[in-house]
Amino acid sequence: MYYEFISIKIQEETAIVYLDRPKALNALNKAMVMELDKAFDKMAADPNIKSVVITGVKNFAAGADISNMVNLSPEEAKDFSFWRTFNKIEEFPKPVIAAIHGFALGGGLELALACDIRIAAPDAKLGFPEINLGIFPGAGGTQRLPRLIGPSRAKQLIFSGQIINIDKAKEYGLVDMVVEDPLAEALKLAGKFAEKSPIALKLAKQCINHAQEAEQKQGIEFEALAWASCFATEDQKEGMQAFLEKRKAVFKGK
Ligand code: CAA
Repeated sequence: MYYEFISIKIQEETAIVYLDRPKALNALNKAMVMELDKAFDKMAADPNIKSVVITGVKNFAAGADISNMVNLSPEEAKDFSFWRTFNKIEEFPKPVIAAIHGFALGGGLELALACDIRIAAPDAKLGFPEINLGIFPGAGGTQRLPRLIGPSRAKQLIFSGQIINIDKAKEYGLVDMVVEDPLAEALKLAGKFAEKSPIALKLAKQCINHAQEAEQKQGIEFEALAWASCFATEDQKEGMQAFLEKRKAVFKGK
């Protein structure tokens, strides 16, 4: 499939999605986000893809494309917002890792927040500068950021528009790992995930995502049902049998 603003490379069982509009620091326009949307549908249906890494050519993404937004009416702004696609990425049934270098700002950082894990380079600069444009994060940022780093730090970042360096981002828990080569590290991690049962991974992800929204008791009931459903899979039998036989499990996603 031809994409204009993204490119996809398959490496073993991982799809690497590149935000590929470097002249504009990968600013996200509507067409680019629609391409991401279609790509994630395709990758969800492809059993050969076990994980996805999102990264960018030259840097991650400097936010939504401001030139596309300047004259929007409120109705058009509703349609322009990227939250549906970012929700789809958050709910994607396989692990999604953001490998960040350079700027991850505004909608770019919201995209990274929709991923399961964020690995960043020492040169990464993160923030929500929307307030300087007379708006605020509108693609899930006000919801995901406080859940990840706490409401007061989220307010500090969103109210000030401050762009923070990697030390601060790590201290805040906005990124999980800081390494020289975030893509290589993300691929290494994806390779580890690829050895596991994709069904168990999918269910674990659903449970953890559910925990962000539900009351703990209700979340534990949800988890109990999902956990029990693992026992309907061949992968569970294989995983436990392999342990008992002191060998490495070979999961088939069944
Ligand atoms: N939208 C459109 N174009 C952008 C852009 C954006 N968000 N960010 C960068 N660009 C373009 C610049 O206009 C410039 O293009 P030209 O060469 O054609 O002039 C090119 O990318 C390079 O940018 P700079 O020359 O500005 O590079 P710099 O290194 O001097 O500065 C920067 C880098 C600090 C990231 C600066 O580009 C900047 O402040 N960008 C805007 C960041 C921002 O406000 N992001 C939030 C957008 S709103 C949003 O995301 C809403 C939402 O919640 C969905």
